[in-house]
Amino acid sequence: MKLLFASNNPDKISEVKEILRDLPIDLITLQDINIDVKIIEDGSTFEANARKKATTIFELTKIPTIADDSGLEVEILEGKPGINSSNYSGEEHNYDKNNAKLLEELIRKPKPHRARFVCVINLKSEDDDEIFFGECKGEIVDEPRGKNGFGYDPLFKPDGYDLTFAELPIEVKNKISHRYNALEKLKEYLISKNKLSS
Ligand code: IMP
Repeated sequence: MKLLFASNNPDKISEVKEILRDLPIDLITLQDINIDVKIIEDGSTFEANARKKATTIFELTKIPTIADDSGLEVEILEGKPGINSSNYSGEEHNYDKNNAKLLEELIRKPKPHRARFVCVINLKSEDDDEIFFGECKGEIVDEPRGKNGFGYDPLFKPDGYDLTFAELPIEVKNKISHRYNALEKLKEYLISKNKLSS
């Protein structure tokens, strides 16, 4: 089946492509069909933002669409950065500044700094409007470690591992991540609806 991934984030696109690689899914991106829209993520939940992205793009293209809204929730910060994960450090945000801001916020907070990555995917088509939730629990480490992945990966050590997401090979992250867990549920759903028989 053809599935449009409504994202302009090259890091997410490469992970989703890799995770879905062995399935009979023709995954295309907005860039592949020359769509350049900026969708304002003004929802108050991951789910609302994922729905907004998927619905907007499906209405525009009529191609079955998935959108991912994701982020990091730190327990002692009451779930922050949460839905503001991408712009945590303000208007001039980037991955390094977001990581620096997070470490600054945690500097005097008691350890361990428990956290989880969350991924909410909305599948929107003529006959589907489904939400798939994935999480990955772990801890925030004291300084950035590793070069793989993106975003907060250098600061996040998943439970059961001594290495951060950015130190682990990307194949390992893609078997345990929040995004993998949400996509597994999408896969189960598509199988149950007979949409993956090629
Ligand atoms: P979104 O585009 O609003 O979903 O923002 C996602 C933001 O959450 C990214 O910019 C990252 O800061 C963070 N994030 C989401 N998933 C990951 C991940 O797998 N690794 C590291 N950071 C992530």
